[in-house]
Amino acid sequence: MKQHILIVDDEKDTRDLMARALGADYRVTTAPDAEQAMKALDAEPDIALMLSDVRMPGADGLQLLKAAKAKHPRLLCILLTAFGTVDQAVAAMKDGAEDFIMKPVDLDQLDLRVAKTLKTGALENEVDLLRRQLDEKFGLENMIGSSVAMKRVFDKVRRAAPSSATVLLQGPNGTGKDLVAHALHNLSPRSKGPFIAVNCGAIAENLIESELFGHEKGSFSGAISQHIGAFEAANHGTIFLDEIGELPMPMQVKLLRVLENRSFMRVGGSKTVDVDIRVVAATNRDLKALVEKGLFREDLFYRLNVVDIYLPALKDRREDIPLLAAKFIRELSEKNGRAINGITPAAMKLLEAYDWPGNVRELRNTIEKMVVLAVADTTLDVADVPEELQAPAAASTKLSAAVTLMENEKAQILAVLQECNGNRSEAARRLGIARRTLYRKLDEYKNEGVDVP
Ligand SMILES: Nc1ncnc2c1ncn2[C@@H]1O[C@H](COP(=O)(O)OP(=O)(O)O)[C@@H](O)[C@H]1O
Ligand SMILES: [Mg+2]
Repeated sequence: MKQHILIVDDEKDTRDLMARALGADYRVTTAPDAEQAMKALDAEPDIALMLSDVRMPGADGLQLLKAAKAKHPRLLCILLTAFGTVDQAVAAMKDGAEDFIMKPVDLDQLDLRVAKTLKTGALENEVDLLRRQLDEKFGLENMIGSSVAMKRVFDKVRRAAPSSATVLLQGPNGTGKDLVAHALHNLSPRSKGPFIAVNCGAIAENLIESELFGHEKGSFSGAISQHIGAFEAANHGTIFLDEIGELPMPMQVKLLRVLENRSFMRVGGSKTVDVDIRVVAATNRDLKALVEKGLFREDLFYRLNVVDIYLPALKDRREDIPLLAAKFIRELSEKNGRAINGITPAAMKLLEAYDWPGNVRELRNTIEKMVVLAVADTTLDVADVPEELQAPAAASTKLSAAVTLMENEKAQILAVLQECNGNRSEAARRLGIARRTLYRKLDEYKNEGVDVP
């Protein structure tokens, strides 16, 4: 389908010339003045681009630009400027014009600039769309939970989001900490600003400082140019410090200072950089316990723990499982081009009985597997439920909850590592944990005498 262009010029010859030049590749509508142009835009909502003269009797091109953009925000505009109106045209770029072309119009130039503007516009619309989809994905309305525990979480998120108070998110892997961090940002007055996530467990120890605070050119070998760190990039927005429990002690001191002063220096720099940021930190470890063991600074813990939100394990809020399962069945059957629209009560019972060591993430992955492999076309049944969920959980429930969770975690980690033929990076990726976390766990297992692949 040809894209639709509106040409606005008070001189009939210019209008016709351009209409003829662009007519081969585009659908063209013309208007002799701003008033007719606005009428055309209202009548033909598919007009993607307006080419308008600046100097016209009645409202001029600049006024038209403002009125048209206000009413049709997606409309792309190129202004045609004669000698003496270039200044105005440049100013018009600030009012949202995409480009301007000098008169008399060079027809090859015209063709090129129109094509380029339409292409950029299409990309921008796509980015807009993706951004909206992300918002949808990360707004609170897409976090599911009817359990008392999750309602309390949602309530706290809504109350904490508008402020700039530091938030500490705790809870096992896969419980929704990422989602909550995004929601805190999206529901805050900073939502138009950047959201910068840093996984403190995934960055090599010697690079963390530069990742967080940036560095000046030549500050260490490898620093070939100046680098802006996450704290600077997050200015006027939110910085999400994921896996904060993995932050090495020396960095904890530096972070504490930044939280206290809201300013820092780049590595190798001598100038103080001030930032306006909201800090959200997350960990799957019990930070208080780390403090007691001397592995995490107590003063930093209190700085981070201004608002604390705990995301409980899925097995401690089993009433959320049916809702989550239903949502994932809908979402993943659409994503995978299947028409599955439900699950039998018997199959649901198995999902509800299982302990979900990987929490919501594991539930989602399991449902995806079930949807993709499902035998019947419309409903998931017991036969579609993976084998490991079918074994009665009786034996494990007798053990203390903590031991069970750790055993489950160990079994899952070792199984995935086996699947990856011992490849640590790949295993960490599949497990959704940091490499450094994986190494630490494997060391623990080795100390217990486990044969680690
Ligand atoms: N309450 C929830 N409602 C819907 N989806 C959820 C919920 N909690 C977690 N998820 C999904 O589970 C997966 C893991 O969540 P994530 O926020 O990455 O967990 P964490 O950061 O705690 O490891 C993601 O796909 C996320 O969308
Ligand atoms: Mg996470």
